[in-house]
Amino acid sequence: MSFISVNNVWQRYGDQVVLEGLNLHVNEGEFCTLVGTSGCGKSTFLRLLLGQETASKGQILLDGNTLAAEPDASRGVVFQRYSVFPHLSVLDNVVLGLELPRSRVLGRLLGKAKKDAREQAAILLQKVGLGHAFDKYPAQLSGGMQQRLAIAQALIMKPRVLLLDEPFGALDPGIRKDMHQLLLELWRETRLTVFMVTHDLSEGFSLGTRLLVFDKVRVDPHAPGAYGARITYDIPLNSDRRNALAAELGATSK
Ligand SMILES: Nc1ncnc2c1ncn2[C@@H]1O[C@H](COP(=O)(O)OP(=O)(O)O)[C@@H](O)[C@H]1O
Ligand SMILES: [Mg+2]
Repeated sequence: MSFISVNNVWQRYGDQVVLEGLNLHVNEGEFCTLVGTSGCGKSTFLRLLLGQETASKGQILLDGNTLAAEPDASRGVVFQRYSVFPHLSVLDNVVLGLELPRSRVLGRLLGKAKKDAREQAAILLQKVGLGHAFDKYPAQLSGGMQQRLAIAQALIMKPRVLLLDEPFGALDPGIRKDMHQLLLELWRETRLTVFMVTHDLSEGFSLGTRLLVFDKVRVDPHAPGAYGARITYDIPLNSDRRNALAAELGATSK
């Protein structure tokens, strides 16, 4: 059984069909990059995977179960920008993720729990290269550092799936290279299943284990909303990475 199964998924808004008949099976630990023209429904697909929206038709299964109706800790997400809280320090931005699920019942973390949360957040921030910036505020960080923070914020909840929507699109090319390195290191270490949307085709080809191309196959000029995008190409990439992953999955399933 696949870790994630997308079975005949359609998404429409009013009379506009955005996605039509998507079928996809992804194993745990795969790193899928998603490309396609602007407006073809890539972000919509990520929202469906996140559980922020429910498909008009079809279903998405995670480990054989239909997705919860709301996002939960099993899936983390990083957007192109603005996903960090400007009024919180770097450290508190990450600690907050551990506090929020409890805050409705228990209020803020206190005492040892608080100390543990801060320690976990600090370790993760070291890992993403923000060990020197715990007390800074987002406005004091460069774009690349803000995205490192956004990644730490997503990872602190130990998700099984990481969704990235053009996370490096606003960064300079040099910094983007460093971020690729970081992401690959984190992926190798955590064995997360990753879905990453990018408008940079070379990023799409170089980064993942699998490239998914979204495209509208059918177009009716008289009814622009009549048809949606499908996954038109599903291309295996980077055989070294895939083989390493397959070997590891084989070893753990024995
Ligand atoms: N909540 C929504 N309500 C109505 N239309 C939407 C909504 N979300 C997305 N769309 C439309 O769906 C299409 C796909 O959008 P999107 O998924 O953002 O594309 P992409 O990420 O590939 O650029 C666009 O035409 C957009 O206007
Ligand atoms: Mg988008």
